[in-house]
Amino acid sequence: MSTTLQDSVGNADIVTAFKSAMGRFATSVTLVTTSDDTDTPHGLAATAFSSVSMDPASVLICINRSASASPVIKKSGFFCINMLQSQHERICQIFSQSDLREQRFTEGDWETGVNGTRYLVDAQAAIFCEVAREIEHGTHTIIVGNVIDVVTHSAEQPLIYMAGRYRSLSSNH
Ligand SMILES: Cc1cc2nc3c(=O)[nH]c(=O)nc-3n(C[C@H](O)[C@H](O)[C@H](O)COP(=O)(O)O)c2cc1C
Repeated sequence: MSTTLQDSVGNADIVTAFKSAMGRFATSVTLVTTSDDTDTPHGLAATAFSSVSMDPASVLICINRSASASPVIKKSGFFCINMLQSQHERICQIFSQSDLREQRFTEGDWETGVNGTRYLVDAQAAIFCEVAREIEHGTHTIIVGNVIDVVTHSAEQPLIYMAGRYRSLSSNH
């Protein structure tokens, strides 16, 4: 779709327009998990996830440097992407609100995978990665990870996030 003069925005409004545009971009939701050197698990909800390459099998995540798990991922060098199902909305809220941080890993069926990283047993898939590259940009770090293990579960309904709301593929609104 081309941008008309009327639709285009000046620099002052670009962040507002960008947020509005991204609100139209429906994504699956993941939990990024990792653990520290005392084996304590850490994590956050993240939609900024993409596959990068099949050779090597690799992914990227974009993590705000202010997120409590950010320094832990960088230090441990490992993380896991848990692809959420629609029934995981409550767990996702826990992993996306700082005041609920103490409740993380207390709800849901968690197991320990490669390198001691926790994964959600009924996530659609859990992709375990080793950090290969870190690129700082703005407030975030783009973390590229090489895939070292994958656990899959029956694919049911992905948890979708769009325009500030959780949705499932079957919803019409
Ligand atoms: C749907 C959704 C997607 C999010 N995606 C990201 C993301 O991709 N990267 C990120 O750094 N934070 C993302 N966040 C924000 C973090 O989950 C949130 O700030 C979290 O509380 C950070 O952990 P902390 O409170 O322990 O610092 C997202 C939040 C929501 C609700």
